[in-house]
Amino acid sequence: MAHLRHSGWGCLRNMPVKGDPDFEGDGESLMDNGPIISATGVMKTYRSREVVVEALNDVSFEVMSGEMVAVMGPSGSGKTTLLNCMSGLDSIDAGDVSIAGQLLRTMSDDALSDYRASSMGFVFQAYNLLPVLSAQENVELPLVLAGNPQKQASERAAAKLELVGLADRADHLPAELSGGQQQRVAIARALANDPAIVWADEPTGNLDSTNAADIMDLLVRLNNEHGQTFVLVTHSEDVGGRAHRIVRMSDGVIVSHSDSSS
Ligand SMILES: Nc1ncnc2c1ncn2[C@@H]1O[C@H](COP(=O)(O)OP(=O)(O)OP(=O)(O)O)[C@@H](O)[C@H]1O
Ligand SMILES: [Mg+2]
Repeated sequence: MAHLRHSGWGCLRNMPVKGDPDFEGDGESLMDNGPIISATGVMKTYRSREVVVEALNDVSFEVMSGEMVAVMGPSGSGKTTLLNCMSGLDSIDAGDVSIAGQLLRTMSDDALSDYRASSMGFVFQAYNLLPVLSAQENVELPLVLAGNPQKQASERAAAKLELVGLADRADHLPAELSGGQQQRVAIARALANDPAIVWADEPTGNLDSTNAADIMDLLVRLNNEHGQTFVLVTHSEDVGGRAHRIVRMSDGVIVSHSDSSS
């Protein structure tokens, strides 16, 4: 896998983040770096038997580096499809998606999946932790699979669990953690490789409002402190209001972009 890190994605992996000597300023100035995600005229149609669903219909969308964007809209409006198509998890029928200036359609499936593993983090509503592995092992696993030596993977996983406030639960199995704690483990796992972009599909969807607010505090802190770009889907106006910007979808179309404060 390592050889692919020398491809065009180097520009993304080398983007300065807080803590690096090259990092200058706060999240605001990072956003001056220009778009890290750029989609133009994206079409995505699902065909199953006789039913044809235009899940994305001429969607154009940009996210600035260091920005936190919330995608909102009714069930079935295309939010998950948007995330899957922007992150290259799913193919598109027309249009273009670029990440850090590179067109996804010019990349092979292998290069794309390697890139996702090394430079993107994913958080899901249902946590998706492996039930037989401890919190520590769940965070370690993608690092080991990516070829990191065990010792380095262990140290890094422990540091990420500390970052999300769960150092004292590292040995717990998922069933021995609360929902909010399980989502923190999933966030630690998503952050394991220090990804430039974190995609989160309803990260607080299974949590009560107090736990949802705690998870958002964590994501906002990570965004501020590390300058990572976040795109998150939510049905909650409270959650969306914490993002820099809300993108609203309806029937496969983006109907508005607004600062979350307006
Ligand atoms: N694999 C698929 N095959 C066929 N149709 C699909 C597929 N995935 C999604 N769709 C359809 O595409 C539309 C958009 O789905 P999507 O999952 O993006 O909605 P969503 O906004 O994420 O909804 P929710 O808030 O319920 O998660 C829906 O009408 C859905 O039925
Ligand atoms: Mg969805």
